[in-house]
Amino acid sequence: MSLQIGDTFPSLTLKVLGEKGPEDVTTDSLLSGKKVVLFAVPGAFTPGCSNTHLPGFVMKADEIKARGVDSIICTAVNDAFVMGAWGKAQNAEEIIMLADGLGELAKAAGLDQDLSAPGLGVRSQRYAMIINDGKIELLNVDATGVDKSSAETVLAAL
Ligand code: BEZ
Repeated sequence: MSLQIGDTFPSLTLKVLGEKGPEDVTTDSLLSGKKVVLFAVPGAFTPGCSNTHLPGFVMKADEIKARGVDSIICTAVNDAFVMGAWGKAQNAEEIIMLADGLGELAKAAGLDQDLSAPGLGVRSQRYAMIINDGKIELLNVDATGVDKSSAETVLAAL
């Protein structure tokens, strides 16, 4: 069963890339008392995520934040080094690149998927959420393509 609108986002300790390497960060510290847009992608540097999904949020970050969003988080089942490098390559300074290296978030959310066929293993589904003080207010999952979880769709919902 996947997370639903109205549910509390799972409490987990994940990683971000800091100056000296991977650092722990809790989802509670990222979400508590804040309005947050979080989007998840199947993989850093994959075509749909690199050409469309993340660049859309980079382009719309200021407009999204102007609608009262404190932070925008991008997560994937990739390690902190990969997430940091991907954020740097995409000029995603305004976006927190949250590494779910072990797939704990994807599994806790019930939004994991098996991408063994193309050689990626267990990854996250593609989705976007609006989360207010830890409570999920919007959850849009894309089975194919980048549509319901796009920056444009999330912006329209804010
Ligand atoms: C993509 O283009 O986003 C993608 C490609 C292969 C596997 C997962 C995602």
